[in-house]
Amino acid sequence: MDDIPIARPLLGDEEIEVVSQVIRSGMLVQGEMVRRFEEEFSSYVGVKDSIAVSSGTVALDLALKAFGLDPGDEVICPAFTFIATSNAVLYQGLRPVFADVDPRTFNLNPEDVLEKVNSNTKAILGVHLYGQPFDVKAIHEICEDHDLILIEDCAQAHGAEYEGKRAGSFGTGCFSFYPTKNMTTGEGGMITTDDDMLAERLRLLRNHGDRGKYNHVMLGYNYRMTNIQGAIGLVQLRKLDAFIDARIKNAEYLSAHISRDGITTPWRDPRCKHVYNQYVLRVEDDFPMSRDDLASYLQSKGIGTGIHYPMPVYEQPLYRQLGIRSICPVAEEISRRVISVPVHPGLSDEDLKRIADAVNSAG
Ligand SMILES: Cc1ncc(COP(=O)(O)O)c(C=O)c1O
Repeated sequence: MDDIPIARPLLGDEEIEVVSQVIRSGMLVQGEMVRRFEEEFSSYVGVKDSIAVSSGTVALDLALKAFGLDPGDEVICPAFTFIATSNAVLYQGLRPVFADVDPRTFNLNPEDVLEKVNSNTKAILGVHLYGQPFDVKAIHEICEDHDLILIEDCAQAHGAEYEGKRAGSFGTGCFSFYPTKNMTTGEGGMITTDDDMLAERLRLLRNHGDRGKYNHVMLGYNYRMTNIQGAIGLVQLRKLDAFIDARIKNAEYLSAHISRDGITTPWRDPRCKHVYNQYVLRVEDDFPMSRDDLASYLQSKGIGTGIHYPMPVYEQPLYRQLGIRSICPVAEEISRRVISVPVHPGLSDEDLKRIADAVNSAG
Protein backbone atom coordinates (compact mmCIF):
# COMPACT_ATOMS: atom_id res chain seq x y z
CA MET A 1 0.00 0.00 0.00
CA ASP A 2 1.25 3.51 -0.83
CA ASP A 3 2.38 5.79 1.93
CA ILE A 4 0.21 8.77 2.84
CA PRO A 5 2.47 11.80 3.40
CA ILE A 6 1.69 14.40 6.07
CA ALA A 7 1.72 17.13 3.39
CA ARG A 8 1.73 17.26 -0.39
CA PRO A 9 1.57 20.44 -2.50
CA LEU A 10 -0.88 20.18 -5.40
CA LEU A 11 0.72 21.67 -8.49
CA GLY A 12 -0.50 20.87 -11.98
CA ASP A 13 -0.52 21.76 -15.65
CA GLU A 14 -1.66 25.36 -15.03
CA GLU A 15 1.33 26.07 -12.82
CA ILE A 16 3.65 24.43 -15.37
CA GLU A 17 2.08 26.56 -18.12
CA VAL A 18 2.45 29.92 -16.32
CA VAL A 19 6.01 29.14 -15.24
CA SER A 20 6.85 28.29 -18.86
CA GLN A 21 5.32 31.61 -19.96
CA VAL A 22 7.47 33.53 -17.47
CA ILE A 23 10.60 31.68 -18.56
CA ARG A 24 9.80 32.32 -22.23
CA SER A 25 9.24 36.02 -21.46
CA GLY A 26 12.72 36.33 -19.95
CA MET A 27 11.24 38.55 -17.16
CA LEU A 28 12.28 36.44 -14.20
CA VAL A 29 12.63 38.91 -11.34
CA GLN A 30 9.88 40.78 -9.49
CA GLY A 31 7.55 42.22 -12.13
CA GLU A 32 4.07 42.00 -13.60
CA MET A 33 3.22 38.55 -12.21
CA VAL A 34 4.17 39.63 -8.69
CA ARG A 35 2.14 42.84 -9.07
CA ARG A 36 -0.94 40.88 -10.19
CA PHE A 37 -0.47 38.32 -7.42
CA GLU A 38 -0.33 41.14 -4.84
CA GLU A 39 -3.46 42.75 -6.27
CA GLU A 40 -5.49 39.52 -6.24
CA PHE A 41 -4.19 38.60 -2.78
CA SER A 42 -5.35 41.98 -1.40
CA SER A 43 -8.81 41.51 -2.77
CA TYR A 44 -8.94 37.92 -1.45
CA VAL A 45 -7.91 38.91 2.09
CA GLY A 46 -9.93 42.13 2.00
CA VAL A 47 -7.14 44.67 2.50
CA LYS A 48 -5.84 47.69 0.58
CA ASP A 49 -2.31 46.43 0.03
CA SER A 50 -0.19 43.31 -0.20
CA ILE A 51 3.61 43.21 -0.43
CA ALA A 52 5.12 39.98 -1.78
CA VAL A 53 8.44 38.86 -0.31
CA SER A 54 10.75 35.87 -0.43
CA SER A 55 9.42 33.87 2.57
CA GLY A 56 7.07 33.94 5.52
CA THR A 57 10.01 34.54 7.84
CA VAL A 58 10.96 37.61 5.81
CA ALA A 59 7.33 38.81 5.95
CA LEU A 60 7.46 38.74 9.77
CA ASP A 61 10.92 40.27 9.86
CA LEU A 62 10.00 43.19 7.59
CA ALA A 63 6.65 43.79 9.26
CA LEU A 64 8.37 44.16 12.63
CA LYS A 65 11.13 46.29 11.11
CA ALA A 66 8.68 48.63 9.38
CA PHE A 67 7.17 49.76 12.69
CA GLY A 68 10.55 51.15 13.78
CA LEU A 69 10.48 49.77 17.32
CA ASP A 70 13.40 50.38 19.67
CA PRO A 71 15.89 47.72 20.79
CA GLY A 72 14.60 45.92 23.86
CA ASP A 73 10.93 46.72 23.19
CA GLU A 74 8.77 43.72 24.02
CA VAL A 75 6.60 41.77 21.61
CA ILE A 76 4.18 39.23 23.06
CA CYS A 77 3.88 36.03 21.07
CA PRO A 78 2.60 32.52 21.78
CA ALA A 79 4.91 29.97 23.39
CA PHE A 80 3.42 27.31 21.13
CA THR A 81 4.27 28.02 17.48
CA PHE A 82 6.93 27.49 14.83
CA ILE A 83 10.20 29.13 15.87
CA ALA A 84 10.12 31.63 12.95
CA THR A 85 7.45 33.65 14.78
CA SER A 86 9.66 34.70 17.67
CA ASN A 87 12.92 34.55 15.72
CA ALA A 88 11.63 37.50 13.68
CA VAL A 89 11.34 39.41 16.96
CA LEU A 90 14.96 38.57 17.76
CA TYR A 91 16.19 39.67 14.31
CA GLN A 92 15.01 43.17 15.14
CA GLY A 93 16.75 43.30 18.51
CA LEU A 94 13.34 43.15 20.20
CA ARG A 95 12.41 40.94 23.12
CA PRO A 96 9.93 38.09 22.63
CA VAL A 97 7.69 37.58 25.65
CA PHE A 98 5.96 34.23 25.53
CA ALA A 99 2.31 33.93 26.51
CA ASP A 100 0.49 30.68 27.10
CA VAL A 101 -2.15 29.20 24.82
CA ASP A 102 -5.67 27.84 25.13
CA PRO A 103 -5.82 24.03 25.58
CA ARG A 104 -8.65 23.64 23.06
CA THR A 105 -7.61 25.96 20.22
CA PHE A 106 -3.83 25.92 20.91
CA ASN A 107 -3.95 29.67 20.23
CA LEU A 108 -2.97 32.67 22.38
CA ASN A 109 -4.77 32.86 25.71
CA PRO A 110 -5.89 36.52 26.00
CA GLU A 111 -5.84 36.41 29.80
CA ASP A 112 -2.20 35.38 29.86
CA VAL A 113 -1.40 37.98 27.19
CA LEU A 114 -2.91 40.65 29.42
CA GLU A 115 -0.82 39.43 32.36
CA LYS A 116 2.31 39.96 30.27
CA VAL A 117 1.55 43.47 29.04
CA ASN A 118 3.74 46.11 30.69
CA SER A 119 5.15 49.51 29.83
CA ASN A 120 7.80 47.95 27.54
CA THR A 121 5.23 46.03 25.47
CA LYS A 122 4.87 47.47 21.97
CA ALA A 123 3.22 44.75 19.91
CA ILE A 124 1.32 41.48 20.00
CA LEU A 125 2.36 38.96 17.38
CA GLY A 126 -0.46 36.40 17.32
CA VAL A 127 -0.43 33.18 15.33
CA HIS A 128 -3.50 31.66 13.69
CA LEU A 129 -2.17 28.21 14.49
CA TYR A 130 -3.02 25.19 12.31
CA GLY A 131 -5.43 27.41 10.30
CA GLN A 132 -7.75 28.53 13.10
CA PRO A 133 -7.80 32.26 13.97
CA PHE A 134 -6.87 33.25 17.51
CA ASP A 135 -9.41 35.14 19.63
CA VAL A 136 -9.18 38.26 17.47
CA LYS A 137 -11.81 40.21 19.44
CA ALA A 138 -10.07 39.79 22.79
CA ILE A 139 -6.56 40.35 21.43
CA HIS A 140 -7.69 43.36 19.41
CA GLU A 141 -9.23 44.87 22.52
CA ILE A 142 -5.97 44.46 24.45
CA CYS A 143 -4.15 46.21 21.59
CA GLU A 144 -6.64 49.09 21.61
CA ASP A 145 -6.57 49.50 25.40
CA HIS A 146 -2.76 49.49 25.62
CA ASP A 147 -1.91 51.15 22.32
CA LEU A 148 -0.15 48.07 20.92
CA ILE A 149 0.57 47.07 17.33
CA LEU A 150 -1.19 43.90 16.16
CA ILE A 151 0.71 41.60 13.83
CA GLU A 152 -0.89 38.38 12.62
CA ASP A 153 1.24 35.39 11.74
CA CYS A 154 -1.01 33.93 9.02
CA ALA A 155 1.56 31.41 7.74
CA GLN A 156 -0.92 28.57 8.33
CA ALA A 157 -4.15 30.50 7.80
CA HIS A 158 -4.75 31.56 4.18
CA GLY A 159 -8.51 31.94 3.82
CA ALA A 160 -9.26 31.42 7.53
CA GLU A 161 -11.98 33.69 8.93
CA TYR A 162 -12.95 35.22 12.24
CA GLU A 163 -16.57 36.43 12.38
CA GLY A 164 -16.67 36.49 8.56
CA LYS A 165 -13.44 38.50 8.05
CA ARG A 166 -10.30 36.93 6.68
CA ALA A 167 -7.08 36.36 8.61
CA GLY A 168 -4.59 39.06 7.69
CA SER A 169 -7.19 41.85 7.68
CA PHE A 170 -7.22 42.62 11.43
CA GLY A 171 -3.66 43.87 11.90
CA THR A 172 -0.61 43.49 9.70
CA GLY A 173 -0.82 40.00 8.15
CA CYS A 174 2.24 37.86 7.42
CA PHE A 175 1.75 34.83 5.15
CA SER A 176 4.04 32.00 4.04
CA PHE A 177 3.85 30.08 0.77
CA TYR A 178 6.13 27.23 1.83
CA PRO A 179 5.06 23.92 0.20
CA THR A 180 3.30 22.57 3.32
CA LYS A 181 0.99 25.60 3.48
CA ASN A 182 -2.56 25.81 2.13
CA MET A 183 -1.16 27.36 -1.06
CA THR A 184 2.44 27.50 -2.24
CA THR A 185 4.91 29.34 -4.43
CA GLY A 186 7.80 27.03 -3.46
CA GLU A 187 9.24 29.58 -1.07
CA GLY A 188 7.54 32.93 -0.65
CA GLY A 189 5.64 35.25 1.65
CA MET A 190 3.18 38.17 1.69
CA ILE A 191 2.46 41.06 4.04
CA THR A 192 -1.08 42.49 4.09
CA THR A 193 -2.07 45.91 5.40
CA ASP A 194 -4.63 48.72 5.14
CA ASP A 195 -2.01 51.33 6.02
CA ASP A 196 -0.70 53.12 2.89
CA MET A 197 2.37 54.55 4.62
CA LEU A 198 3.35 51.17 6.04
CA ALA A 199 2.90 49.57 2.61
CA GLU A 200 5.17 52.17 1.04
CA ARG A 201 7.84 51.57 3.71
CA LEU A 202 7.60 47.81 3.25
CA ARG A 203 8.07 48.14 -0.52
CA LEU A 204 11.19 50.23 0.04
CA LEU A 205 12.59 47.85 2.67
CA ARG A 206 12.00 44.92 0.30
CA ASN A 207 14.09 46.47 -2.46
CA HIS A 208 17.14 48.27 -1.08
CA GLY A 209 15.17 51.36 -0.18
CA ASP A 210 14.99 52.17 -3.91
CA ARG A 211 12.41 54.78 -4.97
CA GLY A 212 13.32 53.89 -8.58
CA LYS A 213 16.34 54.40 -10.85
CA TYR A 214 18.96 53.96 -8.11
CA ASN A 215 17.47 56.50 -5.74
CA HIS A 216 18.09 54.74 -2.41
CA VAL A 217 16.34 56.59 0.38
CA MET A 218 16.79 54.08 3.20
CA LEU A 219 18.67 50.94 4.19
CA GLY A 220 16.73 48.10 2.62
CA TYR A 221 17.27 44.52 1.55
CA ASN A 222 16.77 42.20 -1.36
CA TYR A 223 13.70 40.38 -0.06
CA ARG A 224 11.92 40.32 -3.42
CA MET A 225 9.69 37.59 -4.82
CA THR A 226 10.45 36.38 -8.35
CA ASN A 227 7.97 36.46 -11.24
CA ILE A 228 8.13 32.66 -11.33
CA GLN A 229 6.89 32.51 -7.73
CA GLY A 230 4.32 35.25 -8.45
CA ALA A 231 2.93 33.31 -11.41
CA ILE A 232 2.59 30.10 -9.38
CA GLY A 233 0.96 32.14 -6.60
CA LEU A 234 -1.66 33.57 -8.96
CA VAL A 235 -2.71 30.09 -10.06
CA GLN A 236 -2.62 28.67 -6.53
CA LEU A 237 -4.68 31.58 -5.17
CA ARG A 238 -7.44 30.80 -7.66
CA LYS A 239 -7.43 27.21 -6.39
CA LEU A 240 -7.24 28.15 -2.71
CA ASP A 241 -10.96 27.97 -1.91
CA ALA A 242 -11.20 24.51 -3.47
CA PHE A 243 -8.13 23.40 -1.47
CA ILE A 244 -9.70 24.74 1.72
CA ASP A 245 -13.08 23.09 1.03
CA ALA A 246 -11.27 19.77 0.61
CA ARG A 247 -9.31 20.27 3.85
CA ILE A 248 -12.50 21.07 5.77
CA LYS A 249 -14.26 18.05 4.28
CA ASN A 250 -11.32 15.80 5.17
CA ALA A 251 -11.18 17.19 8.72
CA GLU A 252 -14.91 16.64 9.16
CA TYR A 253 -14.54 13.04 7.97
CA LEU A 254 -11.70 12.38 10.41
CA SER A 255 -13.55 13.98 13.34
CA ALA A 256 -16.65 11.92 12.55
CA HIS A 257 -14.73 8.65 12.21
CA ILE A 258 -11.93 8.82 14.77
CA SER A 259 -13.53 7.58 17.92
CA ARG A 260 -11.26 6.43 20.71
CA ASP A 261 -11.08 7.04 24.43
CA GLY A 262 -7.93 9.04 25.00
CA ILE A 263 -7.90 10.77 21.61
CA THR A 264 -9.28 14.30 21.38
CA THR A 265 -10.12 15.57 17.89
CA PRO A 266 -9.70 19.30 17.04
CA TRP A 267 -12.11 21.84 18.53
CA ARG A 268 -13.37 24.58 16.25
CA ASP A 269 -14.24 27.96 17.73
CA PRO A 270 -17.77 28.65 16.33
CA ARG A 271 -16.71 32.23 15.48
CA CYS A 272 -14.03 30.90 13.12
CA LYS A 273 -13.62 29.33 9.74
CA HIS A 274 -10.82 26.84 10.45
CA VAL A 275 -8.88 25.98 7.28
CA TYR A 276 -7.03 22.96 8.71
CA ASN A 277 -3.48 23.52 7.56
CA GLN A 278 -2.90 20.84 10.16
CA TYR A 279 -5.35 18.36 11.67
CA VAL A 280 -4.05 17.83 15.18
CA LEU A 281 -5.09 15.15 17.65
CA ARG A 282 -4.40 15.24 21.38
CA VAL A 283 -3.22 11.99 22.92
CA GLU A 284 -4.56 11.95 26.50
CA ASP A 285 -3.26 9.96 29.49
CA ASP A 286 -5.92 7.25 29.16
CA PHE A 287 -4.81 6.34 25.63
CA PRO A 288 -3.00 2.96 25.75
CA MET A 289 0.04 4.23 23.83
CA SER A 290 2.34 7.22 24.22
CA ARG A 291 2.10 9.94 21.58
CA ASP A 292 5.46 8.90 20.13
CA ASP A 293 4.45 5.22 20.00
CA LEU A 294 1.26 6.24 18.18
CA ALA A 295 3.41 8.12 15.64
CA SER A 296 5.56 4.99 15.11
CA TYR A 297 2.47 2.80 14.82
CA LEU A 298 0.92 5.09 12.17
CA GLN A 299 4.25 5.17 10.36
CA SER A 300 4.23 1.35 10.28
CA LYS A 301 0.85 1.60 8.56
CA GLY A 302 2.30 3.96 5.95
CA ILE A 303 0.74 7.09 7.44
CA GLY A 304 2.95 10.14 7.83
CA THR A 305 2.56 12.23 10.98
CA GLY A 306 4.05 15.45 12.35
CA ILE A 307 4.64 16.88 15.82
CA HIS A 308 3.73 20.55 15.63
CA TYR A 309 5.47 21.34 18.00
CA PRO A 310 7.49 19.14 20.36
CA MET A 311 8.23 21.88 22.94
CA PRO A 312 7.36 25.48 23.76
CA VAL A 313 9.65 27.81 21.82
CA TYR A 314 11.36 28.99 25.02
CA GLU A 315 12.57 25.42 25.65
CA GLN A 316 14.45 25.34 22.34
CA PRO A 317 18.23 25.30 22.84
CA LEU A 318 18.56 28.72 21.17
CA TYR A 319 16.18 30.37 23.62
CA ARG A 320 17.75 28.61 26.58
CA GLN A 321 21.15 29.89 25.46
CA LEU A 322 19.72 33.40 25.22
CA GLY A 323 18.19 33.07 28.67
CA ILE A 324 14.72 33.90 27.37
CA ARG A 325 12.44 31.96 29.69
CA SER A 326 8.78 31.71 30.42
CA ILE A 327 6.39 29.39 32.21
CA CYS A 328 3.47 28.34 30.06
CA PRO A 329 1.95 25.17 31.55
CA VAL A 330 -0.57 24.60 28.76
CA ALA A 331 2.06 24.90 26.00
CA GLU A 332 4.29 22.52 27.98
CA GLU A 333 1.51 19.99 28.34
CA ILE A 334 0.13 20.03 24.81
CA SER A 335 3.57 19.86 23.22
CA ARG A 336 3.78 16.36 24.75
CA ARG A 337 0.32 15.40 23.47
CA VAL A 338 -0.14 16.73 19.93
CA ILE A 339 0.18 14.67 16.77
CA SER A 340 -0.75 15.87 13.29
CA VAL A 341 -2.19 13.40 10.79
CA PRO A 342 -2.67 14.04 7.05
CA VAL A 343 -5.59 16.31 6.06
CA HIS A 344 -4.32 17.78 2.78
CA PRO A 345 -6.50 18.04 -0.35
CA GLY A 346 -4.59 15.24 -2.10
CA LEU A 347 -6.16 12.55 0.15
CA SER A 348 -8.56 10.03 -1.36
CA ASP A 349 -11.60 8.57 0.44
CA GLU A 350 -9.56 5.40 0.86
CA ASP A 351 -6.67 7.35 2.46
CA LEU A 352 -9.05 9.01 4.92
CA LYS A 353 -10.53 5.68 5.90
CA ARG A 354 -7.06 4.23 6.40
CA ILE A 355 -6.07 7.13 8.69
CA ALA A 356 -9.21 6.87 10.85
CA ASP A 357 -9.03 3.06 11.00
CA ALA A 358 -5.36 3.16 11.99
CA VAL A 359 -5.96 5.59 14.87
CA ASN A 360 -8.99 3.58 15.99
CA SER A 361 -7.05 0.32 16.01
CA ALA A 362 -3.85 1.60 17.64
CA GLY A 363 -2.75 0.12 20.98
C1 LIG B 1 3.53 29.81 12.18
C2 LIG B 1 4.61 30.02 11.16
N1 LIG B 1 5.25 31.21 11.14
C3 LIG B 1 6.21 31.47 10.22
C4 LIG B 1 6.58 30.55 9.28
C5 LIG B 1 7.72 30.87 8.37
O1 LIG B 1 7.40 30.80 7.02
P1 LIG B 1 8.55 30.43 5.94
O2 LIG B 1 8.87 28.99 6.10
O3 LIG B 1 7.89 30.75 4.63
O4 LIG B 1 9.71 31.32 6.21
C6 LIG B 1 5.92 29.30 9.26
C7 LIG B 1 6.20 28.26 8.25
O5 LIG B 1 7.16 27.69 8.00
C8 LIG B 1 4.92 29.02 10.24
O6 LIG B 1 4.30 27.85 10.28
